[in-house]
Formats: sequence, C-alpha cells, structure tokens
Amino acid sequence: MSGADTRRVDETILGVSDLSVVFHSHHRRSHVTAVDTVSFDVPRHRTVGLVGESGSGKSTIARAVLGLEPVTSGRVTFDGQDITRPSKRERRALTEHLQVIFQDPYSSLSPTRTIRDTLVEPLLAHRTASREEADERARHLLERVGLASYALDRYPSEFSGGQRQRIAIARALMLQPKFIACDEPVSALDLSIQAQVLNLLKELQQEMGLSYLFIAHNLSVVRYMSYEVLVLYRGQLMERGDASTLYHRPEHPYTRALLEASPVADPVEQSRRRAHQRATGALSIQNLPVVGCPFAPRCAYAVPRCSSERPPSVVGPSGTTVACHRVGELPWSNDGND
Ligand SMILES: Nc1ncnc2c1ncn2[C@@H]1O[C@H](COP(=O)(O)OP(=O)(O)OP(=O)(O)O)[C@@H](O)[C@H]1O
Ligand code: SF4
Ligand SMILES: [Mg+2]
Repeated sequence: MSGADTRRVDETILGVSDLSVVFHSHHRRSHVTAVDTVSFDVPRHRTVGLVGESGSGKSTIARAVLGLEPVTSGRVTFDGQDITRPSKRERRALTEHLQVIFQDPYSSLSPTRTIRDTLVEPLLAHRTASREEADERARHLLERVGLASYALDRYPSEFSGGQRQRIAIARALMLQPKFIACDEPVSALDLSIQAQVLNLLKELQQEMGLSYLFIAHNLSVVRYMSYEVLVLYRGQLMERGDASTLYHRPEHPYTRALLEASPVADPVEQSRRRAHQRATGALSIQNLPVVGCPFAPRCAYAVPRCSSERPPSVVGPSGTTVACHRVGELPWSNDGND
C-alpha cells in the first residue's frame, strides 16, 4: 500500500465477481460478450478507475452494476447485499444509494424541465420530503457545485457544458447516495473545465464519503482520480493495480500501448461506432469470440500460445495483477525502471 493516505480501506461497498454480460442479436443468432468474467471491489470512500478504448465494455460494466443491463453470469453486491438481478422494486430502492453521472449531461437533463424540477423530482418520488425541504436541498447542492440559486428556474439549454455537468452532479447527490458510477464525466468538456469538475468530484467524495467507479479513456485522468485502476480490453481485465504503479510500471503490453497512445475520448468517433453498432446489430470482426488473449492480434510480443490459451491473472514483477502469458519475460520487466 502506498501514498500518504493511511485511512483503513478494508471495507467493500461494491463487489463484482466474475461478471459477464452477453448481448444477443435475435434475428442473426449471434452474440457479443461485452463483459467477460470481470472481478473487482470498490472500497468504501474510494475510487476505482476503469480505462480502455472505445467498445471495451466500460459502460456495460457500469450499467450492469446499476441494474440497467441484465447480468449474464457472475455476481454484484452492494453493502453486502446481492443486487445481481434486482426486481423493479428493489432497483428503485437501490437508486437511493447508487447513482450515475454520464458523459453527456444534456442527454440526461430534460430540456423542457427547469433545473429545480429536475433536482427535486427524485427526492419527491422516493421520500416523504416536503416540497420545501426538497427545494432547500436543491438550492444547497446547486451552490455546493458552484452555481448560484437563480439557476433553479432556468432550463438546461441556458448553461454551458461544464455547468450542465455540475447540475447533473447535484442531481445525482439529491438522494444522498453512497456510490456513483461516473461514466466519462469530463470527456466531453473543454480541457480547461475538466480539471475543475474532477476537483469538484474529489471534494464531494471527501465531504460526503462517496465511492466512485470512474470511467475514462485516458489513463492520466483515471490515475488522478483513482486509488486502484483496472485496464479493460474487449471485455476482459488486462491489468489492475494501484494507480501510481500502474502508471509508472505497467506490465501488460496493452497498458503500455494505452499509456503511449494516451487516447482521448472522441465523442464523434464514439457516436459513429454506436450508430454502426445499431445499424449492424453489433456484428463485426471485433465481436467474434475470443480464444486466448484478446490482445494477441495487436501484440508485438505474442507467441503461439497467446492465440490458443487464455492467460491467467497473476501478480507481476511490479506488483500489479496481469493477464499475460509472458509476464516477467517482457523486455521491460527487468530493466530497473524505478
Ligand atoms: N445494447 C447493446 N446491444 C448489443 N451490443 C452492445 C449493446 N451495448 C453495447 N454493446 C457492445 O458491447 C461492447 C461494449 O460496449 P460499451 O458501450 O460498454 O463500451 P465502452 O467501453 O463504454 O465504449 P465507449 O468508450 O465508446 O463508451 C461493444 O462491442 C458494443 O458494441
Ligand atoms: S498474452 Fe501474449 S498476446 Fe496477450 S499481451 Fe501477453 S504476450 Fe501479448
Ligand atoms: Mg462507454
């Protein structure tokens, strides 16, 4: 364990074990394994970061955890309680504790509702809060995220992207959740605004004891936010480790590639991919079943075994957990990189 923070972190708020999500396209009798036996825990009051390129299954993991996507196999627990397949009623109760912030706040804020109505709605629907109490909490949270209370009677279109994301954050906080899935919350924002919103999320975590699952394309954004980082490729975990080690001494060839390329989220490319997916029923080479290591077709270090056997996850020389047949034999493993 590294870092100056010495608080105990032995308590898990969200547990994910061997999670798989398979999408079926009925008319073509094909399927896509979007998430493939992924396991991780989110400790209380901590952030676990999830990185990987477009289509690697990041959002599907978040959606499955929130009960918005059916889990094909595996298990999800929240506060020790099994929430793998919540009933409608259970899911409603869970939204009090588990919330989500999306990349594009505009799509999650109703354009025809005032900010006030958007904020108070979940509180009035869930609790016996009076209209006055709900109003008061909305005003307080808006101010806390950096907007004046006159914003209450305006509409989403009257705000900038950064302000709208602050409003989406305030809304997520209305029910006093314990866990928030942050699905690329800053990747659609200008670079200058990104840091402000990330810092706000960090401050709120401290103040309110929140736990985050934090999704991004960019390893450096995730590193800034996270205690532990998971690297995902085609639905499988390639490497996981504490943020600093993973950043300075990545072991897996894919993590290396990700660090070198530092991909930035490209909303245009993402929406193109999603449109293509809708049009084709998500059929493409990319979606053919994976035998062996999913990274093998792109890996400069691949050996024959890589395309026939799935590599097990083992602890590598730098202390991260790595799914690679050649862990420890790769050129950088012994190069005294520290
Ligand atoms: N509803 C769906 N039906 C069929 N396939 C889907 C569906 N949703 C996602 N997929 C497929 O699952 C895989 C993972 O998609 P997902 O959106 O989780 O990736 P992502 O890592 O969040 O990508 P991005 O960075 O672009 O947001 C992709 O191959 C995608 O085509
Ligand atoms: S298992 Fe083989 S193909 Fe996969 S990352 Fe390791 S060396 Fe490359
Ligand atoms: Mg996504």
